Amino acid sequence: MSERTLVLVKPDGVARALVGEVISRIERKGLTLAALELRTVSEETAKAHYAEHVERPFFPSLIEFITSGPVVAMVVEGERAIPAFRQLAGGTDPVEKATPGTIRGDFGLETQLNLVHGSDSPESAEREIGLWFPGL
Ligand code: TYD
Ligand code: MG
Repeated sequence: MSERTLVLVKPDGVARALVGEVISRIERKGLTLAALELRTVSEETAKAHYAEHVERPFFPSLIEFITSGPVVAMVVEGERAIPAFRQLAGGTDPVEKATPGTIRGDFGLETQLNLVHGSDSPESAEREIGLWFPGL
């Protein structure tokens, strides 16, 4: 069943010129782009995006990081797009969890600087797409 997911190339990925690499992997997987924009995230949007983590010790640092430079926000569409992009991204910790062949496993060293975000469930995807691309 076709579904949509919210993908971000985070400030580290944009700064390291990995946007094309990420898009290329999405397209080669067979997924398609339904929306794409380069933006600088407001603190308000960042806090809403990561609301589930508000009580975690890393939250302030995460918000500072995600607002530190431009991100590329995308809506990605296709068969099982939500788990399919999570598979492409790899686990949250780029060394301990993500395996080689994934975006984080191939390009990341630190958990905070893990390059990409992908929605983790249909409920998250709907909420995040509504936040980043209202009306889409
Ligand atoms: P989380 O939603 O758990 O991971 P994912 O991005 O794989 O869905 O966490 C959101 C982001 O918060 C994560 O991508 C990187 C950052 N983070 C840390 O900086 N330290 C941590 O210990 C965790 C769990 C996450
Ligand atoms: Mg998450």
